Amino acid sequence: MTSRPALPNLKRNNPYILEIQNHQDQIWFSPEQAGADLADFVSGPGALRLDLGCGAGNFLRSCALAEPQARFVGFELRYKRLVVAARKFKKSQLQNVRLAKARAEDLTSWFAQGTLDRVHVNFPDPWPKARQQKHRLLGQRFLADLKVLLKKEGEFWFKTDHKEYFEWALGQIEACGFYEVVELSWDLHHSPYQEHNQLTEFEGLFLSQGLPVYHLKAILKA
Ligand SMILES: C[S@@+](CC[C@H](N)C(=O)[O-])C[C@H]1O[C@@H](n2cnc3c(N)ncnc32)[C@H](O)[C@@H]1O
Repeated sequence: MTSRPALPNLKRNNPYILEIQNHQDQIWFSPEQAGADLADFVSGPGALRLDLGCGAGNFLRSCALAEPQARFVGFELRYKRLVVAARKFKKSQLQNVRLAKARAEDLTSWFAQGTLDRVHVNFPDPWPKARQQKHRLLGQRFLADLKVLLKKEGEFWFKTDHKEYFEWALGQIEACGFYEVVELSWDLHHSPYQEHNQLTEFEGLFLSQGLPVYHLKAILKA
């Protein structure tokens, strides 16, 4: 008799793969599985905002508490971060946040044309080596997808600790020609834009080390 191959240790020992099942009221796994909840959530009242690569949810929790009339969806790949975020949202009794265990690159299979008010990308993996740049999220394909999904004058917000990625992304945004950059700072926390800033987990770490945060806000051109 042949036995089934064992799961890699990493998966067998990851308790968050089990716990994530308890948060299915908050976490979507595919557009098909999310079904009516996704449709209701997207068509609900108030602005629809995304956080791509949302980590353990501090930013989303602060935004959802500050704007209870808006709706927020976080995309994230890691089980532990999703579970930790879902626990936080339950503890804060937030009804206006969902999570998707999904790739930020697959946004177009989740949302229809012209449905998003704002997309945040906070401290994405910088893929610093030249041969890794193809993995960077903020390239031409993503910017073109976003153009389709954003509403008229929809917003794209980006912050990072990585100067080279920031300047590269700014070049990508300018090259595509779809967006107007209306806020730009090489030191967010010493700029007027800090007033509307909500902290992320990574941002807290960089701040505690005295490092600058780069920020931009771009608006889809009419
Ligand atoms: C550097 S962390 C930043 C987390 C959070 N935004 C913050 O600022 O604290 C990048 C996050 O993006 C997630 N991530 C990486 N690639 C992704 C992708 N293609 N789609 C969705 N999430 C992704 C990682 O799992 C990780 O949690």
